[in-house]
Amino acid sequence: MHTLYFDLRDTKGQQKEIEDNIASAGKLLREGGLVAIPTETVYGLGANGLDGGAVRRIFEAKGRPQDNPLILHLTGAQWLPRYCREIPSMAYVLARKFWPGPLTMILKRGELVPDETTAGLDTVAVRCPNHPVTLAIIREAGVPIAAPSANVSGRPSCTTAQAVMEDMEGKIEGVVDGGPCVVGVESTILDLTCRPPRLLRPGGLPVEELERLIGPIAVDKAVNGQMSPEEQPRAPGMKYRHYAPKAPVTVVTGAPEKSAREIKRRAGPGSGVICFDEYAGMFSGQQVQTLGPEADQMTQAQRVFEALRAFDSLPVMEIYAQCPDSRGLGLAVGNRLKKAAGFHILEADSSKIILGLTGGTGAGKSTALDVIRGLGGTVLDCDQVYREILAENEEMQKAIGSSFPGVFRPDGTLDRQKLGQEVFMKKERLEKLNLIVYRFLVPELGRRLDATEDGLYALDAINLLESGMDQVCDRTIAITSPTELRVRRIMARDQITEQYARMRIGAQKPDEYYRGKCDCELNNDADTAEEFRAAANRFFTRLVQSIKEEKEHGV
Ligand code: TXA
Ligand code: MG
Repeated sequence: MHTLYFDLRDTKGQQKEIEDNIASAGKLLREGGLVAIPTETVYGLGANGLDGGAVRRIFEAKGRPQDNPLILHLTGAQWLPRYCREIPSMAYVLARKFWPGPLTMILKRGELVPDETTAGLDTVAVRCPNHPVTLAIIREAGVPIAAPSANVSGRPSCTTAQAVMEDMEGKIEGVVDGGPCVVGVESTILDLTCRPPRLLRPGGLPVEELERLIGPIAVDKAVNGQMSPEEQPRAPGMKYRHYAPKAPVTVVTGAPEKSAREIKRRAGPGSGVICFDEYAGMFSGQQVQTLGPEADQMTQAQRVFEALRAFDSLPVMEIYAQCPDSRGLGLAVGNRLKKAAGFHILEADSSKIILGLTGGTGAGKSTALDVIRGLGGTVLDCDQVYREILAENEEMQKAIGSSFPGVFRPDGTLDRQKLGQEVFMKKERLEKLNLIVYRFLVPELGRRLDATEDGLYALDAINLLESGMDQVCDRTIAITSPTELRVRRIMARDQITEQYARMRIGAQKPDEYYRGKCDCELNNDADTAEEFRAAANRFFTRLVQSIKEEKEHGV
């Protein structure tokens, strides 16, 4: 299908041409075609809302779940009695104040509205968009226009005609370019069929403004959290993962200085960052999309979807996003970011402390970890986590299988011994395997840590620094020890000869390596285990104390 492009960005120019374009778009719509239209919030994918067949095509073009109803776009409140019934006077009060504008009202559905538009519900969503071009097109079409956001289902909404073209070219009859959307997030959805009225989706009209006019509003659960599959939000669309770029997103909440620092600690070279303008300079090593100044919510709303979309053409493995607080438009912007993250949220203000321990064999890492346990800490054995995901994660198995073709048995299970042989004493092969492992291990570890309670945690990882796991740590600690002491310790511990002990130590990285790369060092030159234990206890007590203070007061 060829998609027609109507340029209506400048409505002060050639009047004849403008009228022709509006007439053509209106006619296409009236006759059952799909035309993307500009609104002040986001671009909509329009069809004649009274024509069930046309509306069905919207669902096909977007790949939208059938149970997700559409908003009917009207030219004003005078159309309400045609498509709604039992209209409360409050609807007119709201329309008088906020229409045309980013407010969608849920009302009882009238008989003219087909099941396709409302997904079979007894209610219908209505709004009057504030865009002169689209109002003219609806008037021309003479019918209410059903229009969801013009993105492919699940992707960020479109705030420019170019973004619509990316998602919809070849699938719909036309795209009307009315310039970039000035609001940038979708309309606020308010359910007026219950008492008190209920906010189903935060959007371009802040709830505070609604409450000022009509009093208290209830907030639907779906606004602040992800619904479980059994739960039914009142706006069916709120239950789906949404607005998502291809790379996984983590939203970091809390005061901006704190969230920026938290992101800084976690972001690696392959990370993308969405941040307020003031913090962009902190992320010179990352791909950055700015949201606008910290205090400028209008700009944040305008930019949020473009920022999310931009990452789909950038090589990023993961995305961290700063999050505005929930006042004013911040509720809508934060909600879009959190939905993009599948509600994967990290509290920058939390008092979780993560230590990463590394160092060569015989230096005293196990004793140090034991001391941390004694201080109430939890130890995460990264090798154990590796083995768990190796057994469970099909994507990681696939990645390994394509690089090491022989290591899967005919029944599809992984032959770990064979994999071990493949990389044993072959540096390049081992590095290749490690790169695959780290790609899955680091995010998994991050997820596990995020799911834990506040408190003290220690990562036990030989490859802490090479894997990138050090990035999730508040501090990395090198456990070092003079070679002669290490030789004696592992001879006694593992019952091996001096020659073999020296060979094992020689095969590992030297202390200087760990010393140079870690944040701090705990040197074990104690003669007895008890002595080292006491020293480690003092060391970690002090370290934890100073991290706590730093988290509370900032650095
Ligand atoms: O700003 C906007 O509202 C944009 C522009 C194009 O107008 N439109 C938009 O549509 O965001 P869409 O389809 O992406 O989101 C509509 C939301 C969905 O979450 C849907 O479940 C909800 O409105 N909705 C529609 N009809 C409903 C109803 N009768 N009851 C409850 N929720 C409804
Ligand atoms: Mg949408």
